[in-house]
Amino acid sequence: MASPQATETEIQTRVADLMSWMTVEEKAGQLTQYFTFPGVTEELENVETEVRAGRAGSLLFVSDAAEIDRLQHIAVEESRLGIPLLFAYDVIHGFRTAMPVPLALAASWDPSLAEDCQAIAAKEARSIGLHWAFAPMVDIARDPRWGRMIEGAGEDPFLGSAMAAAQVRGFQGDRIGAPDRVIAGPKHFAGYGASLGGRDYDEVDLSDSELWNIHFPPFKAAIEAGAGNIMSAYMGLNGVPASGNKWLLTDVLRAEWGFDGFVVTDAGAAADLETHHFAMDRPDAAVRALNAGVDMEMAPPFGGDAAFRSLPDALASGRITMDRLDEAVARVLTMKFRMGLFDAPFVDVAASERTLATAAHGDVALRAAERSAVLLRNEGGLLPLSRDIGSIAVIGPFADAARDTSGPWIFRQDDSETVTVLAGIRAAVGNGTRVDHSVGVSVPKRLHPSIFENPFLPPTPVIEVDDDAEIARSVALAQEAEVAVLVLGEAEVMIGEHASRSTLDLPGRQQELLDAVLATGTPTVLLVMTGRPLDFKGAQPTAQMMIWYPGTRGGEATANLLFGDAVPGGKLPYNWPRNIGQIPLPYAHLRSFKPEETEMRYWNEPNGPLYPFGFGLSYSSFDYANLRLSSDCIAVGQSVEVSVDVTNTGVRAAEEVVQLYIHQRYGTAARPVRELKGFNRIALAPGETRSVTFPLTPDRLRYWSSATRGWVQEPTTFDIFVGGSSQGGLATVLKVDALA
Ligand code: BGC
Repeated sequence: MASPQATETEIQTRVADLMSWMTVEEKAGQLTQYFTFPGVTEELENVETEVRAGRAGSLLFVSDAAEIDRLQHIAVEESRLGIPLLFAYDVIHGFRTAMPVPLALAASWDPSLAEDCQAIAAKEARSIGLHWAFAPMVDIARDPRWGRMIEGAGEDPFLGSAMAAAQVRGFQGDRIGAPDRVIAGPKHFAGYGASLGGRDYDEVDLSDSELWNIHFPPFKAAIEAGAGNIMSAYMGLNGVPASGNKWLLTDVLRAEWGFDGFVVTDAGAAADLETHHFAMDRPDAAVRALNAGVDMEMAPPFGGDAAFRSLPDALASGRITMDRLDEAVARVLTMKFRMGLFDAPFVDVAASERTLATAAHGDVALRAAERSAVLLRNEGGLLPLSRDIGSIAVIGPFADAARDTSGPWIFRQDDSETVTVLAGIRAAVGNGTRVDHSVGVSVPKRLHPSIFENPFLPPTPVIEVDDDAEIARSVALAQEAEVAVLVLGEAEVMIGEHASRSTLDLPGRQQELLDAVLATGTPTVLLVMTGRPLDFKGAQPTAQMMIWYPGTRGGEATANLLFGDAVPGGKLPYNWPRNIGQIPLPYAHLRSFKPEETEMRYWNEPNGPLYPFGFGLSYSSFDYANLRLSSDCIAVGQSVEVSVDVTNTGVRAAEEVVQLYIHQRYGTAARPVRELKGFNRIALAPGETRSVTFPLTPDRLRYWSSATRGWVQEPTTFDIFVGGSSQGGLATVLKVDALA
């Protein structure tokens, strides 16, 4: 039975009391989080010793209910003070039930959907005894070479902030300690998405304007939504490693934003301050991290030595103060009390089995996969297909690949529960439809192995075929079929952490397969399984849809979309470049010098994207009319409402993401040609018109100016755009006067 919720005053009294009993070594222990990696027995033995000795505050990666319970019993029953452990894990897009990857959820432009998905992820995680998710990743990503783009919400701070806050609410519910929820840990503070060359972990150099206007807002939104934890990033930010960066972790996070949760480093990032050639040695690294504002060290993986072990020495030599140590310990213990761990530390193993992968969880995964797909092409209205179609050839290395369908950053799924695209199509058509399948080409391989091969499941089956023969077979199947459905993209180990790329080409021989199938002339649907824009070298399939890594029920969702039981309504959360050489290519760029050449700054091709941010087609069509402002002229500090009428002009019920953009014409700094400041995904019956209203509040009209080095809202003129993507749409003008 749940115990009554303790008040914050009671919690603080209990924290102070507990701390009065603790040795310095036990305090340092509370600030240390250890890995246990499946199969690494020696590491587990060391961890058990540390837990017994009261030298561990938290463990990560234990993800088995009985094992969590066993380790918690050691902490509570065998350590001197019996302080329970916080169990943390990467619950990125589901625990057992795989939801679509976070970038896909962003493509739904439906924050409440992201909230629902993370609430289920939290419920499954909490049931096995986890208390804390290393998520959401809220890093803005404008370089698709960076594999971790898939973990976030794409390139835009406004969409990113909405998704960040929604996911925090999903993980945590209305408070830390809410039943069936876990602590959210937005990461990686800050700027990780801007690593040089898109190379993972590489250094980051960002202007203050970029930080405040683009990279910080999702963190701020996550904190305002109540996030209990923040993870500090690995890389150097403007020369100072993020995990030793006092300006970032104290001046901005605490002083400016009032964050009152605890900060954990990324894995080994405290010890790494030495690797960065920033700290003199590991003990110095611990001092620098703690003094910068880190509260807990995630120790280096595979038994690496925790830097925070040396904190007692640092205290003895006066390099850290007892006040700072106590502050960090109090933050961690406060979370343990808020989570109710002192009253109910153990796991109900039998109950957890009943919670994982319920049908209701799968239903949300299905809805999420349907809502996150983005239709990019549909020549001649090929889609939706008729269920009575005579024959379909389903081709490609990812058409029947369960592990890839779940995507990266999920480790405890059950592949037998995953519906692949092939299985989804087979289940959707009647007996009269012939469905043929070929893998098309071997599953492409990485140059070097991934460190993220799933450690809990058997290795992904290696599919190796004679590519020439298989391409020829696929062509023959396509020729005989009424429609070819190609499922191409990247294997899940080719994206995510440690999975950056120097090209956006289809890996392996998939491009050859694509070209050969298109050359048959059979109408072809290209379904793309990845989490970044790819370069298809101008290939023009009849229809093309991003299905991302759609999760447990992904294949079923895809079939529903193909046959029209679901209508695509997602929109791209990033600008899709024509060519890798254009990167970075944010839609929210400055007008700059010679704006008349904006479209031809390269001599060899247009400057603009292949598909713009916010773009996505439907099986229906929409008309925008009657864009109006509640007032054409406001004063600084006032709000205005922007309204538009949207009509479904097609014959199907469908959903449209109505988007509001602004452009400030002049001010103390130049502002982007367009910036997203509102969106609303609405459902419209055929012929139905709805009026959509967006508030434009002062906080949406302000920005951080490099000229004044602070937030400003200026007397100026704004262009206001409303439409179905970041290009085109209706436009009007808003004047903002100085305060009288
Ligand atoms: C990643 C984090 C993750 C951590 C624990 C790190 O390598 O950067 O995002 O939470 O590992 O798995």
